[in-house]
Amino acid sequence: MIFVSWLSADQGYMTVHLWSGLTLLALLLFRIGWGFAGATTARFSNFLHAPPKVIAYLRTIVRGGKPLHAGHNPAGGLMVAVLLAALLAQAVTGLFANDGLKFSGPLALQVSVDRSDWLTQIHGTIFNILLVLIWLHLVAIGFYFLVKGENLVGPMVTGKKHRAHVPEGVALVFTPPVIAIALLVLSAACAAWILF
Ligand code: HEM
Repeated sequence: MIFVSWLSADQGYMTVHLWSGLTLLALLLFRIGWGFAGATTARFSNFLHAPPKVIAYLRTIVRGGKPLHAGHNPAGGLMVAVLLAALLAQAVTGLFANDGLKFSGPLALQVSVDRSDWLTQIHGTIFNILLVLIWLHLVAIGFYFLVKGENLVGPMVTGKKHRAHVPEGVALVFTPPVIAIALLVLSAACAAWILF
């Protein structure tokens, strides 16, 4: 969705840009809801830690340590939160943005032209910050794979992690799929409501 949003803006396909932005917004709302109602390792309470714990974890990693985590490690958890916040800010500023020609976001008329122009500038700036975060994320995944011998991508897609990378005695609780479907429908309805 991020690539489609960038390419559509770059090529001036702003209707595509709007729909990819709204789809991303719905997925973000779903992920935020899943951070409270989802399986153990999907919950914010499982992977968001205070800064001292994140710093201590990074120190252990730099010293060659390989602490085990069933879900996101403390540094990965922080990156998840930062990426979610940046993407949400990108989608929300887009809703108020305008291209100075014929296209404007569905909420642009709710604010003054100056405010919409200001949010459009921020929309462009946040995208550059997003690019840096995405690169950082890719470099970190490469580091874990090549240096730590830990594949972070597979478990993110399959939800399955090699036994050797999970601490002993971890109890995982899974959320029924019907909750996920209801949350997805609710998130899509919220994004669609903005448009209509
Ligand atoms: C519903 C959501 C969104 C709406 C209504 C929206 C609207 C807009 C508008 C009106 C512009 C034109 C600004 C200009 O001409 O300077 C724009 C530019 C752009 N948008 Fe969005 N956008 C949305 C979501 C997103 C998302 C999610 C991303 C990426 C993750 C994104 C990336 C971009 C980029 C890269 C540009 C070009 C910025 C520049 O050239 O400075 N947009 N968007």
